[in-house]
Amino acid sequence: MLDRTPFHYDDGALFCEGVALEELAERWGTPLYVTSRHSIEDRYREFEAAFAGLDHFTCYSVKANFNLSVIRTLGDLGCGCDVNSAGELFRALKAGVPGNRIIFAGVGKRPDEISYALENGVLMLKVESLSELRSIDRIAGDAGLTAPVALRINPNVTAETHPYITTGDSKEKFGIDEAELPEVFTLLGELRHVRLVGLDMHIGSQIFDPEFYVAALTKLLDIHSYSKGRGFAVEYLDIGGGFPATYDPMKPETPLSSFAEKLVPMLKPAGAKVIFEPGRFLMANASVLLTRILYRKRNHIGKEFFVVDAGLTELIRPALYQSHHEVISVRRHDETVVADVVGPICESSDFFARQRPIGDAPEGELLAVMSAGAYGAVMSSNYNGRLRPAEVMVEGSESRLIRRRESFEQLIANEVE
Ligand code: LLP
Repeated sequence: MLDRTPFHYDDGALFCEGVALEELAERWGTPLYVTSRHSIEDRYREFEAAFAGLDHFTCYSVKANFNLSVIRTLGDLGCGCDVNSAGELFRALKAGVPGNRIIFAGVGKRPDEISYALENGVLMLKVESLSELRSIDRIAGDAGLTAPVALRINPNVTAETHPYITTGDSKEKFGIDEAELPEVFTLLGELRHVRLVGLDMHIGSQIFDPEFYVAALTKLLDIHSYSKGRGFAVEYLDIGGGFPATYDPMKPETPLSSFAEKLVPMLKPAGAKVIFEPGRFLMANASVLLTRILYRKRNHIGKEFFVVDAGLTELIRPALYQSHHEVISVRRHDETVVADVVGPICESSDFFARQRPIGDAPEGELLAVMSAGAYGAVMSSNYNGRLRPAEVMVEGSESRLIRRRESFEQLIANEVE
């Protein structure tokens, strides 16, 4: 599992790049997110190299990990951002990414969010319905602006992944239905304050089989031809994110080259700039969630538990999607025990691993929940009165706090008595 990640054992102790995780836990406490800067940079370069043959622009999907230092790391490399709310746009701007490198997505944008995006000169706003197109036109007109828009198409392709993260199916809320396209183009011809600049799709997340992209892209390209026929030649074709990352060593990610082999020959003749929106691919394996073993216990049916100080409030993916995360001991133990690794939250779904071999670490030692960089910290919550965890970024032999642990005062800061 540690192959191709910045995490490795050195003399029996787990390191992130050149820093021992034990040292970080001593200094900053646990639960703690530890993120490798080099890993983010390496994955971005890998992504860029895979699609080097294509005129493209990569927009990091900020929802995967919106920490300012993470966004800045990618922004410094020339990467743009895909944001899904005014709050994410605020973060991307704060991290130094200019508006014209940001695309604004979201199935339910409020009028104030549309205004905020326009004020900040985003590269494009995605449109997901006829009503939204009218709203954007009205808001842009009131502000004396023309809004650059991209149509998010629902290609009606059901990508094989967890049902909660498939988005390109007509059963789902996302995108404009094919049947509505004639009306959408007619409206585009009438509205004065929107300018169609792109066509867009996003079929889901953690998609291993390139054929799902091929099926959806075939539709997008048909719509591209139709669009040209209606007098709208777009500059951008956005094929979304969803490129997979390895969580389970038994289920390694499909190499990007397999996606590029299929997609580049389809996209190149289209003559538009291609936008990609990877999130997980860049971030999943850049971070671990470091947690301390509070208690170990065994019950009368012989079941072992490691009760740790992190829970679903820090990383909800196993509870929400039954997703697999490797859990390894920070000190290497040759003996293993088959156990559940569970958190302190009062929910039975509060587990990181079930019936897995875990290094036989005693109470007080540390475990690392792997592949926690995407949809980890960003989905954390205060449920059960928990404080959101601290986050640290490692670069070589240096480490830096990139988010303070929350305080009790922050827990109640917005309450009015
Ligand atoms: N673009 C759009 C429009 C999206 O909705 C998403 C993710 C992405 C790009 C990035 O997808 P990625 O490359 O990261 O697969 N919380 C879930 C994942 C939700 C994904 C939502 N949309 C999880 O933990 O698996």
